[in-house]
Amino acid sequence: MSKTITLVTGANKGIGLETAKQLAALGHHVILAARDRAKAVEAAKQIDGEVEPLQLDVTDAISISAAAAIVAQKHGRLDVLINNAGVMLDDPARRPSEQTLATWRQTFDTNVFGLVAVTQAFLPLLKQSAGARIVNLSSILGSNSLHQTPDSGIYEFKVPAYNVSKSAVNAWTVHLAHELRGTPHKVNAAHPGHVQTDMGGAAAPMGIPDGAKTSVWLATLPVDGPNGGYFHQGETLPW
Ligand SMILES: NC(=O)c1ccc[n+]([C@@H]2O[C@H](COP(=O)([O-])OP(=O)(O)OC[C@H]3O[C@@H](n4cnc5c(N)ncnc54)[C@H](OP(=O)(O)O)[C@@H]3O)[C@@H](O)[C@H]2O)c1
Repeated sequence: MSKTITLVTGANKGIGLETAKQLAALGHHVILAARDRAKAVEAAKQIDGEVEPLQLDVTDAISISAAAAIVAQKHGRLDVLINNAGVMLDDPARRPSEQTLATWRQTFDTNVFGLVAVTQAFLPLLKQSAGARIVNLSSILGSNSLHQTPDSGIYEFKVPAYNVSKSAVNAWTVHLAHELRGTPHKVNAAHPGHVQTDMGGAAAPMGIPDGAKTSVWLATLPVDGPNGGYFHQGETLPW
């Protein structure tokens, strides 16, 4: 049987790189995508197993269609898409109402429109899989329920462009899951944890190996696994 073909966006560092490593160790053929080709090549060298670097800027329509054409030509299908690329651009010194519209737009360009555009471009290839798995990197910060709960751990963490972009990722996940219902294909949203990456910061409680676990789990779901859920390490999160 041929290997599972898996593409991870934003995989040159952080949770994406670790997810690529862990899935390569499980025997996947990993397409390690990064917006900077040289970074993709360097990151791929750090991984044992079948890894192929790919240039993919999720905000660039030409880059996305070129990447999809390469995967179509080389593999003819895609089994796993991990929409991992993301940015957090809010200025923590500003109140929610004071974040600039430029910040909102840049954040949504990557975290929401980029994620949707990549999914749209690769969906025809994912539908060639016997059972595709799409993993959307959300965040617990996208949970509206927890933002309204004063004793939740995120109640005070109001960085709105980022948080609302992840709420949008959650909502999009529900809509795509509805479209995919009754097919062998699944899409779920993942909260990786608060992880020690450039985004999460050095003081974050979770190491990068654990931070990749939710993505790896959702990428390897069995046939009877969930579709349209929002998870952290196997536990359902409130929307
Ligand atoms: N770390 C956490 O605590 C945490 C918590 C919840 C959710 N998450 C989510 O988990 C995902 C990974 O985060 P991380 O902590 O690993 O962050 P990170 O270390 O900052 O890495 C982010 C990755 O996204 C890439 N990226 C940004 N814009 C891109 C674009 N336009 N096209 C392609 N790639 C792009 C970056 O590439 P460059 O190197 O070129 O910038 C980098 O590879 C993100 O979606 C994040 O929102 C993280």
